[in-house]
Amino acid sequence: MHHPDICIAGAGIIGLSLALELHHRGHRVTVLDQGDPLAEASTAAAGMLAAQDPDNPPQLRPLADLSLSLYPAFLDRLYNFSAIRVPFQTHTTLQSLHPKHNSPNELTPADLTAEDLSHLLPALTPTGHRFILLDEHSLDPRQLAAALLAAVHSTTIDLRPNTSLLSTRSTSNSIEIITATGTVHSSRFVDCTGAWATTTSRLSHLQIAPRKGQMVAVALPPSLPLHFVVRTPDIYIVPRTTGPAAGRAIIGATIEDSGFDKSIHPDDIHHLRALAAALLPPIANTPQLEAWSGLRPATPDGLPLLGALPGDPNHLIATGHYRNGILLAPATALVMAQLLSNETPSVDLTSFSPGRAVPQTA
Ligand code: GLY
Repeated sequence: MHHPDICIAGAGIIGLSLALELHHRGHRVTVLDQGDPLAEASTAAAGMLAAQDPDNPPQLRPLADLSLSLYPAFLDRLYNFSAIRVPFQTHTTLQSLHPKHNSPNELTPADLTAEDLSHLLPALTPTGHRFILLDEHSLDPRQLAAALLAAVHSTTIDLRPNTSLLSTRSTSNSIEIITATGTVHSSRFVDCTGAWATTTSRLSHLQIAPRKGQMVAVALPPSLPLHFVVRTPDIYIVPRTTGPAAGRAIIGATIEDSGFDKSIHPDDIHHLRALAAALLPPIANTPQLEAWSGLRPATPDGLPLLGALPGDPNHLIATGHYRNGILLAPATALVMAQLLSNETPSVDLTSFSPGRAVPQTA
């Protein structure tokens, strides 16, 4: 029987990025997924690398900044393994600040004037918004998924789709991973099952919950050549500028607690389009190309869980990335690989400890 050094459950962007990093470090890695790789939140995402989103919890910033700094090398590694180059789709975000975002951080740029905005985006109806410009990239998660999967397939990583995790059993120096199709014996186990970690995690005080986001893609009208992201606390409009999806814009997203239900509701899609059209009227009547939903893994305090379960050093978890899984994948892969290699992580992981206390009111 195959005995990997490390077994990962969950072949989403977190699990597969970690698998590649561990493979790079010489570990034998097995990755299990209950269905197809990268079929859930990883490809439902809009793809904004929104490290400076003022709605992010401030504790996320060091991990987010580390991830941004790793992104070029991460994409180069994917290219080297897969020969698929994943381009950035946008390089700037027009961010509306809510009144509560008075000073999200001391580096916040000055508000744009009405004249700035009319030059930047003549179609914008900025009524009631304060806008700033952020240096922020986005990419197409479907392109990223294709490159990541091809990269993994080009290695000796043992990727097993349609292999549901049933339970784990730790012994003093290894862990048994019981699946629907057999048992894997591994030195260490990392749960990267995203929203599904709720069904496997033993963290009763830090429950992970699926939080649904519905999204819609529309064709951008020729009168609106949008080359940057527009984001308010209620809505984002993310154009695809290159590749097979060029010329469309992704509008998102709802935030719903409805368990594992992923149904799409025309009223919700209509509401998203109406919010987008209130900002950018030319988007009101353009053809709708696609609508879908994804399940974000949410924690009570909005921060990911990164590290070993209390009292079980061979059973680790890396989930709870909520709205920032694409952004945080390279840094998560690095710090988890560092933990698994008994190295000091590049950022302090105290805020993300699976054993942390969570305020009841968070
Ligand atoms: N990543 C954007 C969202 O969660 O809607």
